[in-house]
Amino acid sequence: MNIAILGAGNIGRTMGIKWAKTGHRVVFGTRDANSAKAQALRASLPNAEIETVPHALKDAEVVLISLPFAAVAETVKTNANALAGKIIMDATNSFGAPVVNNLKTILDAVPTARVYRAFNSLGWEVFEQASANSVDHFYCGKDDAARSIVEKLIAEIGVRPVWVGGHETIGIVDALGSLWVTLVFQRGYKRNIALRLSEA
Ligand SMILES: NC(=O)c1ccc[n+]([C@@H]2O[C@H](COP(=O)([O-])OP(=O)(O)OC[C@H]3O[C@@H](n4cnc5c(N)ncnc54)[C@H](OP(=O)(O)O)[C@@H]3O)[C@@H](O)[C@H]2O)c1
Repeated sequence: MNIAILGAGNIGRTMGIKWAKTGHRVVFGTRDANSAKAQALRASLPNAEIETVPHALKDAEVVLISLPFAAVAETVKTNANALAGKIIMDATNSFGAPVVNNLKTILDAVPTARVYRAFNSLGWEVFEQASANSVDHFYCGKDDAARSIVEKLIAEIGVRPVWVGGHETIGIVDALGSLWVTLVFQRGYKRNIALRLSEA
């Protein structure tokens, strides 16, 4: 698939490296594709393309938003036409705010976007280290053909996808992220902890 990743930091890079290895075309959307930072990124990610956001979105079928939370509103507004109809996976968090995700912000700017809440509830190290369904990853979004695509992309990271439900369950998925953050930053657990769905 053609995957655009907006935000080439911890989360974006981790997913991009794994999806590129799986054979997907991965294009990172950056603020300035000619900056020294972009050049360094290009050198460190030989299997991916480093472009501006509009270029990255041009042929994309799926978009991962892994930007700082506050950067999302302007980015989706500016690129609304290019995002129309696309599958968008929102990994962004604003812990402590009344709304932790960017679902409404994305849909307000791009009503036709098919938005999924994914990659938000675990630290990037978990996604980096996971393999062969070693941990579970809970996500939500509409149950249609797009969900199969998102589910496959999650599985390709090495975590087991667990669909929680449609957008009405986003608070549950967000709460799992809050749980992870609480355990790591307040209870002293390591950043590679993850949840596992098991049967008694
Ligand atoms: N870190 C985690 O473990 C984790 C886990 C789950 C979810 N998340 C969420 O995922 C998002 C990304 O987290 P992160 O840790 O990957 O952050 P990060 O390492 O700071 O990376 C953010 C990236 O976004 C880029 N960026 C900023 N504004 C941009 C813009 N307007 N257009 C294009 N690129 C832009 C930054 O580029 P510059 O360097 O040029 O600023 C940087 O490459 C956050 O919302 C976070 O809450 C993080």
